[in-house]
Amino acid sequence: MTNSAFPGLDAYLDSESGPVERALERAIVTLEQCEAPIEPEVLSAIRHGVMSGGKRLRPILFASAYQACGAEAKEASYDLAASLEMIHAYSLMHDDLPCMDDAALRRGRATTHRVHGEDVTIRAGAALIPAAALQALDASGRLGCEQARCLTIVRTLMAAAGAGGMVGGQWVDLLGEGLALGTEDLDALHRMKTGALLTASLEMAALAADADSDTRDALRTYGQAIGLAFQIADDVLDATASAETLGKNPSDAVLDKSTYVALYGLEEALRRARYQVDIAVSALKAAGIESPALVALGRHVVERRK
Ligand code: IPE
Ligand code: IPE
Ligand code: MG
Ligand code: MG
Ligand code: MG
Repeated sequence: MTNSAFPGLDAYLDSESGPVERALERAIVTLEQCEAPIEPEVLSAIRHGVMSGGKRLRPILFASAYQACGAEAKEASYDLAASLEMIHAYSLMHDDLPCMDDAALRRGRATTHRVHGEDVTIRAGAALIPAAALQALDASGRLGCEQARCLTIVRTLMAAAGAGGMVGGQWVDLLGEGLALGTEDLDALHRMKTGALLTASLEMAALAADADSDTRDALRTYGQAIGLAFQIADDVLDATASAETLGKNPSDAVLDKSTYVALYGLEEALRRARYQVDIAVSALKAAGIESPALVALGRHVVERRK
């Protein structure tokens, strides 16, 4: 992709979100047509949690990295990208439960459990985990990846979602309430709960495109850096933006969460987030990856308004 081909971030996000939404719709139809029928209420909750807008950053990062590796976007590549959003959507459905952050508002509307109940939301979220793994396996196969690469792609997704990644980070986040975690613990928390899945978006793209190891390493470094920056920015927005803009209620102060804002203050938190984006962009440059989309998305992670 050359600079002249890049239409600007807003237009780019618009053009990528269509195929992502269609892939998510296909994923839900697959669940609706499951051999052993899923309870209708659980299906409605899945729809509520998944088809509810959101920035779709993880699948768009996947799509951008896949194309930056020279691969051509197609239906199956967006299906693979959608598996990341299925994990992300479930993580938000569970994150909002009363036993976690107890949130009433998500993406500008009532949270899934406020509409469908806690029990149904737990089941809906749980159903999305194997659905995402199966979706990733199927889509990688349709992209022509040989079996070993298909398995590595699914392993990458599941490892990022699991106890050593997102879920483990969520536990540390909850246990860290009221504890005022220091730099090292806070970095580890952010890298797990948010960084792992964002990094997987880049790694899965490199694997699916069969990129060389230098490209894959650079994309991983980019993912790790913007992953940390993304959670810092989320904490900054929680402390500065309105519920109307964010589509969710700021809650970190009330819940006494360990955040970059609590540890360093707003200005230093932002400076550290921007430093991570510089690391991310430098990694692309050093590896000769020319992707205006990834550069713009990296900057957007910190400069976004919601
Ligand atoms: C919010 O993620 C939760 C975090 C991991 C910080 P996003 O800000 O990507 O949420 P949506 O998908 O756009 O709603
Ligand atoms: C959630 O972090 C990270 C997840 C893995 C879902 P937050 O609890 O800060 O996310 P928001 O602010 O509710 O979206
Ligand atoms: Mg949380
Ligand atoms: Mg939360
Ligand atoms: Mg937050």
